[in-house]
Amino acid sequence: MEHDSAYHAPVMIGEVLDLLDPRPEGLYLDGTLGGGGHAEALLQREPRARLIAVDRDPDALREAGERLAVFGDRVRLVRANYSDATAAAGIGPEMLDGALLDLGISSHQVDEVARGFTFRAGAPLDMRMGQDSVAEATAAELLNTLGEEELATIFYRFGEERRSRRLARLIVERRAETPLKTSDDLVALIEAALTRPTAQDRARIFQALRIAVNREIEGIEAALPRLREALRSGGVLVVLSYHSLEDRVVKDSFRSWSQSCVCPPGFPVCSCRGEPLGETLTRKPLYPSDAEVARNPRARSARLRAWRRA
Ligand SMILES: C[S@@+](CC[C@H](N)C(=O)[O-])C[C@H]1O[C@@H](n2cnc3c(N)ncnc32)[C@H](O)[C@@H]1O
Repeated sequence: MEHDSAYHAPVMIGEVLDLLDPRPEGLYLDGTLGGGGHAEALLQREPRARLIAVDRDPDALREAGERLAVFGDRVRLVRANYSDATAAAGIGPEMLDGALLDLGISSHQVDEVARGFTFRAGAPLDMRMGQDSVAEATAAELLNTLGEEELATIFYRFGEERRSRRLARLIVERRAETPLKTSDDLVALIEAALTRPTAQDRARIFQALRIAVNREIEGIEAALPRLREALRSGGVLVVLSYHSLEDRVVKDSFRSWSQSCVCPPGFPVCSCRGEPLGETLTRKPLYPSDAEVARNPRARSARLRAWRRA
């Protein structure tokens, strides 16, 4: 596909663009720029649209910045967490015609062993998307300092791991002797805690840790209402998620914003806003086609939802 790059292959690009439906002079926000594939496609589809392109990872801004340089001042790059993107980019209420969040990590982040997202041998336990050594704790720091209960909760809540308590106990026992440093240290403990773990089991546990390191669920919960308020009437918010908890936050938010009354059940008189803030454009999530998954297996867990402001 023409928008694929060695950095990252954008997922469900046709569906995303059809939903955003960029208009001339429209202002859009890409909160997860990554390799810039979705951004490039949007700017090409509507040659007069403008884009604020946000990522917390400096690698993404460098890579995509070069790629998008041909669009000149139609693109503005901002290094920020998408949950703070409106404040960081000076976006006020009702300024955006559309916004995109393509959650999770880029292929570049997984493939760069030094970034520590992978369970391949010898990777440091890092996993910070923002590469910010002051504001963010690494995976190793969490593993070596959090209490046993907190670790178990991370593996259970974000990784649906049934043996989360056993794994957390082994981590705490092991770190009393030597702190965990690399992927091999964690993989050895996963091997001990789970019976014959598969590559998917290891991936699930590494993903759970990544979600905790980057505070991903809290980030989405904070971002969604801010992006909604930044949309103009008719503006569309599109979210691609890759994990059931992420998708649940998106689904519940879109559903609640689309309801006419959000008073608690049994409330005698409606005292809430009393009318929907907008409408969900995807009653059921959209999934990538079989052809896309065959071409790009990393797309397989994607779910796309979209919502339009009234
Ligand atoms: C799946 S990739 C996006 C790929 C992009 N749509 C493309 O076409 O190449 C996700 C990107 O979001 C960034 N990211 C994840 N969480 C973020 C957050 N809370 N704030 C800002 N960027 C974030 C990651 O650093 C990564 O570059």
